[in-house]
Amino acid sequence: MKLYKKEGNIIQILSFPNETVEKGDYLLIEDADAAKALIAQVIDVQFASIPGILEELLRSLPDGGELVQGEDFDPLEIAPHITYIQDASLLVCKIRATMENESLSPTSSWLPSRSQSTIRKLPIPTLIKLAKIDGELPIILGGTKDSSLLTIDATSLDGRLNIITGKKETGKSHLSKLLMLNLIGYKATVVVFDLNGEYLSLGMTTDGKRNAYYDKIHVLTPSENFKVALKQLNLHVILEILIHALHLPGTSAREFRRIWQSLKERDSLNLHELGETIRNCHCNQHVRDALFSRYHALLNSCFFTDNVAEATFLEECLFKAKEHGGAIIINLRNTSPIDRQIVVEYLLAKFVELLTGNRLKAIFLFAEEAHLYLRETYWDDIVTRMRHFGIFTTFITNQPDTVRENIYRQADNIFLFNFTNEHDLEVVSRAARVDAETVKSIARDLPPHYCLALGRVVRDFPMVVKVKALDVKTMGETRLFFKDMN
Ligand SMILES: Nc1ncnc2c1ncn2[C@@H]1O[C@H](COP(=O)(O)OP(=O)(O)OP(=O)(O)O)[C@@H](O)[C@H]1O
Ligand SMILES: [Mg+2]
Repeated sequence: MKLYKKEGNIIQILSFPNETVEKGDYLLIEDADAAKALIAQVIDVQFASIPGILEELLRSLPDGGELVQGEDFDPLEIAPHITYIQDASLLVCKIRATMENESLSPTSSWLPSRSQSTIRKLPIPTLIKLAKIDGELPIILGGTKDSSLLTIDATSLDGRLNIITGKKETGKSHLSKLLMLNLIGYKATVVVFDLNGEYLSLGMTTDGKRNAYYDKIHVLTPSENFKVALKQLNLHVILEILIHALHLPGTSAREFRRIWQSLKERDSLNLHELGETIRNCHCNQHVRDALFSRYHALLNSCFFTDNVAEATFLEECLFKAKEHGGAIIINLRNTSPIDRQIVVEYLLAKFVELLTGNRLKAIFLFAEEAHLYLRETYWDDIVTRMRHFGIFTTFITNQPDTVRENIYRQADNIFLFNFTNEHDLEVVSRAARVDAETVKSIARDLPPHYCLALGRVVRDFPMVVKVKALDVKTMGETRLFFKDMN
């Protein structure tokens, strides 16, 4: 390999046919005397177009038959060399770091010598060691191309905002399961908003036996084994639900506050009394109608109950998870859009309450297709307020444009699966921790189950990894009509 050109932090390298280099590989460009080296990543492989005489020669070669009649005449035996050069490729590489005395710095301000420098492939395990990607709490993501393992450190997910995105059925939810299971293995508290009911059997192996996670996975299905007693509910939580999930106007909300407080004082806070009080309330007809329709929405969700014994103590599940590590899977599969918002609004308000009271340390929240239940204002909240409370979110989506732009800007880690659509790639390229060329060039060629890890988890050295299989029942499959018809 030979250094050919450098423009900004893009470096072009001429690679000859016997050197197999592919997109995503890392190269080490060492200067003979400067004791410095550049670490660059191949982001594109092109045909070499060598200007000048050589180009002329190359051009004339394939149809040389037209120009030269008769026997081939090659006294200097130059033809094999020309073919060799013709097969050469041009590696477009992005400079990722400068290495000096085994330490890395993200600069590209110096230029290695074109004639003296040597270029070789940098094995991924060496890079992992140099960049200190693995750490005290390892999570094996899977294998890299040179059949080594990519191990990240769980602490690089701690306090962070993550995005897992890619086309349909490329393995996003699978990776999210892998991450959350590893986190609970390290005693973290995890909450999953499970839209398709595909995290429910994580406590089972593929052949249906209990696995090590069995006792750490709690599935809560709203209106089935997950209900809230009205008595346990704080006024501010129910108001958040009414205002944000059910769009109750301000004036009606004030009336509701009055009704709720008076019921509480009389110790008669139950669903029936609440309905009766709204019906008999001496207020404006519109206010009463507004309150009554919301009351019915609450009632129809079957998420609220008067029976404290029937109510799930979310706190209990969370505290259990806090001690030994565990995941609470909120099964939203059969929950209607309105009810989903009610449940999510309740949960987020509850988490904030528990976290601010220091009764919980932190929650790793995994949210599948969050635009289907997260209200507008939460997007900003999640990057600012929620993060400070200790809610560390991972968004999983196959429609990257449903995730707000500021989430991309603030994301610390992005796990990118295949995308071919230009628009989708454009959206992901807005992420601050990555350059658009890398995203566009590498993500387009990723096979299913391969992901490009970007950001803090890989210390900003983008790496392609084949995500490893899991021995858990994943239930992520799409239901098929023709599957069992033979
Ligand atoms: N690394 C992997 N090893 C083995 N099987 C995998 C891997 N990744 C995904 N799968 C399997 O491929 C299928 C699709 O994966 P998954 O459900 O994770 O895709 P997805 O990207 O979340 O799809 P969707 O966009 O439909 O949500 C599942 O059956 C899953 O078990
Ligand atoms: Mg999925």
